[in-house]
Order: sequence, then structure tokens, then C-alpha cells
Amino acid sequence: MIRNFTYYTPTKVAFGAGAEAKTGRLVKEQGCRKVLLHYGGGSARRSGLLDRVEQSLAQAGVEYVQLGGVVPNPRLSLVYEGIDLCRREGVDFILAVGGGSVIDSAKAIGYGAANEGDVWDYYMGLRKPSACLPLGAVLTLSATGSEMSNSSVITKEEGLLKRAYNDDISRPKFAVLNPELTMTLPPYQTASGCVDIMMHTMERYFNQSENLELTDGISHALLKTVMKNAAILLERPEDYNARAEVMWAGSLSHNGLTGCGNDGGDWACHKLEHELGGLYDVAHGAGLAAVWGSWARYVYKARVERFAQFARCVMDVDACDDPEACALAGIAALEDFFRSIQMPTSLRELGVNPTESEIEEMAAKCAAGAPGGTVGVVRPLEQADMAAIYRAAL
Ligand code: NZQ
Ligand code: ZN
Repeated sequence: MIRNFTYYTPTKVAFGAGAEAKTGRLVKEQGCRKVLLHYGGGSARRSGLLDRVEQSLAQAGVEYVQLGGVVPNPRLSLVYEGIDLCRREGVDFILAVGGGSVIDSAKAIGYGAANEGDVWDYYMGLRKPSACLPLGAVLTLSATGSEMSNSSVITKEEGLLKRAYNDDISRPKFAVLNPELTMTLPPYQTASGCVDIMMHTMERYFNQSENLELTDGISHALLKTVMKNAAILLERPEDYNARAEVMWAGSLSHNGLTGCGNDGGDWACHKLEHELGGLYDVAHGAGLAAVWGSWARYVYKARVERFAQFARCVMDVDACDDPEACALAGIAALEDFFRSIQMPTSLRELGVNPTESEIEEMAAKCAAGAPGGTVGVVRPLEQADMAAIYRAAL
């Protein structure tokens, strides 16, 4: 049966070539006085995007201050800097220009600037914010879906703790989605983004709910679309339509659509990956690809039919008379796909080689960060299971 749900997507989307020219107008519509223009390590400056965005803000008569320097796996120290800057300058709107890391950093600054106390408390689950500064995004990397999601993931340098906080009050007011902006990405980031998009759908797809006709159908279409176009982008990185399909899939994969009517999904791979990202600073999507196969083989027996449906409907596995063999063939086929777009399917291929004590450390941190100490719904995983999956992924 389809479960009751609330679907909340307040983000206005401006999609298409040249869409960043609308940024000034979109900000102006929000009725703000002063904007924080937040960006990353340099790609947006080098590509000329920041100049165009600044021009658009100036044309709309919007005043702004700037804070660049967001790094992948964005750091808490820059969030604190951004909060101070917002308070000093009377900022009342944040414009994030970049990938998921910049948008996540903007959300954290938004929470911190709109509330008293330490913003990290929210990420540790100690309290909840009552407000967030409104924000908008000009997206340069199709991956996280942060441009429409309620999620923000920040890394605290001390203890290398990477933690997420989800709250609808941080959903961006608007997202500027110009597929051309992603053409300057290195192939590795494009592929890593495609994996992340797929995983946002798959985390919701592998669940304990019954099959849902429409939600499952949307998920199948999303996954097939991303696989087809990720392969095209490997050959033709400047293919506009392929960039556009992937970009739209990225936003739809994490705005809640593919979770409508189910139990919300599993998310164990994300939790396992966040520990890898915290400790080794790896690209998020690549980290997901490296652990997915080991997770899937560890849990599939708890939902054999679901894995078999995935094999048939997404991976086009034909030999499906025996559900278990079919499920395993689907897992192998997805790993083959990851390899075909040069994504890792093991930790070694990811470029990390954790020692036994590092595996135990990641599993302990992962369990400590989870309510009740377990992650996942397909098969709830305790700390020993997490360590076993890391070991199997070596
Ligand atoms: O900093 P710059 O110079 O811009 O370089 C970035 C960065 O090095 C570069 N880049 C971005 N757009 C580019 C570009 N290079 C050339 N051309 C462009 N157009 O790409 C590198 C990676 O950027 P980053 O923003 O870190 O990547 P992504 O968008 O994959 O974000 C990853 C972060 O988001 C979190 C991840 O855990 C990770 O911390 N996630 C956030 C989610 C959310 N808020 O909803 C959900 C996800 O599951 C995820 O956990
Ligand atoms: Zn993700």
C-alpha cells in the first residue's frame, strides 16, 4: 500500500542555457537587502561564471559581500567565518554558486546566522534551529541534489567528523540549472556525480515497502536515464542534452520525489560513505560506488524480490527465473556499469587502504552517529556489520 506522505518542494527552478543571467532578478524577488555570495575554490571564477553572476546582481541593484574557499567535504571553520560575516554585514540572503559543498556550506551558514549558539549542535542532533537565512543556488555540478534538498553535510576538522543535518527550512528558494555550466567538470567529477544521483534514487528504492507502481516507475526511468547519459558524457563531455538529462535527474533524485509513498529508504551506503569522506576526503559519489556492491551482497537476502526487480527493470537482466541469481546478476551488472564510467568498486580502487583499526574507527563513528546505533532498513546494520562491509569492500 502507498504510505501517507508530505511532498514539499518549494524551490523555483530556472533551467536551461544561459539561465544564470536571471540570478539577479531571482534574488531581487526575495526582497532581501544584502546577499552573501558564497563559492568554492576557483572553478566558478576561472570559467567566468562568477563575473556573470556578479553582473546580474549589479544589474538588479542587489548589494552583496563575498566569501569563497569552500572545499569538497566542506569544513565547519569556513561556516563559522560565514556566520560572522553575515552578522557583521547584515546579510539576509545567501547565494551559493557551485556544487553540493558550496550549497551545503551556505545552508549551514544560514542556520548559524539565524540562530544563537553553536551551529554544530544541529549536526550532532543536540537541538533544532528555528530558522534559516533564505538561500538560492547556481549549480555547477550535477550530483548531490542539494539545490532542492533539505540536507546539508559538513565536516568538523577536529576529529574529522562528517555529519548531515536535514531540515525543510533550508530548502533553497530557487535553483539556477544551466547544464552548460557542468561542461568544465573533470570527467571523474562528472562520473562521481552520476553515481551520487543514482544512489539518491537507489537509497530510497531499496526499502521495506511494497512495490509502488508510479514511484518505482519514476525511479527506474531516472536510473536508466542517468546510466545512458553518463556513458554519453564519457565520450562527449560537451553534449548539452546529456548534461541536461543528468542535471534534471540530479535535482529530482534528491528532492523527495522518489521517496513518495515508501518508508523513506535505507541510506546505509550514505552513512558508510560519510565516514570515508570524513577520514579520507574522497569524492562522495566515488566513495558510494566503492561500497555499494559490498553493501548489496551483504543485505540482498533480506529483500531478494526487490533486488531481482531492480535487476530486471533497471539493469535489463534477462535470466531471472531464479530470484536470487537474478538479484546477484543485477548487483554485478551495476558494478560493471560503475567500472565502465571509471568509478571504483572497491576501497583500493578508490585510493584508500584502511587498516583494521581504521575500519573499526569508521564503524564506531558510523554507529555512534546513528539513532539506536544502527543504519539501514533493508537489513538494519550494527557496528559489526558496518565493519564487515568495509572489510568486504577492501
Ligand atoms: O571548488 P571548486 O573550484 O569549484 O571545485 C569543485 C570541487 O573541487 C569542482 N567543481 C564544481 N563545479 C565545477 C567544478 N570544476 C569544474 N567545473 C565545474 N563546473 O568539483 C569539486 C567537487 O565539488 P563538490 O561541491 O564538493 O561536489 P559535490 O557536488 O559532489 O558535493 C559533495 C558534497 O555534498 C555532500 C557530500 O557528502 C559532499 O560533502 N552531499 C550533500 C547532499 C545534500 N546536501 O543533499 C546529499 C549528498 O548525499 C551528499 O552527502
Ligand atoms: Zn549522496
